[in-house]
Amino acid sequence: MLNFAIQTARDAGRILVERFGRITQISNKGEIDLVTEADLAVERFIIERIKSHYPRHAILAEESDASGIKHEGQSDLKWIIDPLDGTTNYAHGYPTFCVSIALERDNRIELGVIYDPMRDEMFAAERGEGATLNGRRIHVSEIDDLNSAMLCTGFPYNVREMRDFARHFYNFIMYAQAVRRDGSAALDLAYVACGRFDGFWEEGLRPWDVAAGVILIEEAGGRVSYYDGSPFNIYTPPILASNGLMHEAMMRVLAM
Ligand code: IPD
Ligand code: CA
Ligand code: CA
Repeated sequence: MLNFAIQTARDAGRILVERFGRITQISNKGEIDLVTEADLAVERFIIERIKSHYPRHAILAEESDASGIKHEGQSDLKWIIDPLDGTTNYAHGYPTFCVSIALERDNRIELGVIYDPMRDEMFAAERGEGATLNGRRIHVSEIDDLNSAMLCTGFPYNVREMRDFARHFYNFIMYAQAVRRDGSAALDLAYVACGRFDGFWEEGLRPWDVAAGVILIEEAGGRVSYYDGSPFNIYTPPILASNGLMHEAMMRVLAM
């Protein structure tokens, strides 16, 4: 099933690249929350693929009514899909976005893939088997002080209602070496897994934004939790993800 997910993400990424820069139809889901025809087309493509290979599996996908609710006769396996993570980037022609596909069994992520089609980077992980980038084993970074850390975050779509966010952002700018905001939470998590970022935090994310990234980080030796260090559940944000070494220091900043 990992190979199936890799192949599906690669094909989905090809569709995104073909349409990149040619987006004509953008609608708003919320005040600043977009959906393009590419999100919808790629999601349809992935769902059809899953249905033809694994007709009994459940599906939780961002844009469709495939709500993830288990139906009679369905297996315990559930695919969690973000067909295009980084929609706002994509709609503006900013080449940072990805496809994210994860497989969950009984509230546990079993495998995850995140594919960046612009750089042809395929991040993949399977429970107990480690994490890879284009087939080569990846690990989180070894940076252990905030002063030397490059962190990343995202601004939730309802940022205007989230006052804590501005405080956290200000504090991290003051304590870390650098803070980035790239607009694709799934890719940000993949970058923590391969050591490009030392830590990531964000509130207001949804299961399809984080499912694949969580297993990538865990399999690459990192840590994922809530802001206070308690165990993370993909269905309820916020998320704190790091190389592990940076975790306590990030928790302290988030508690300020
Ligand atoms: C969004 C991106 C962004 C994050 C938002 C997400 P979308 O997903 O991951 O980085 O800040 O909270 O909703 O809408 O591009 O799939
Ligand atoms: Ca997303
Ligand atoms: Ca999306």
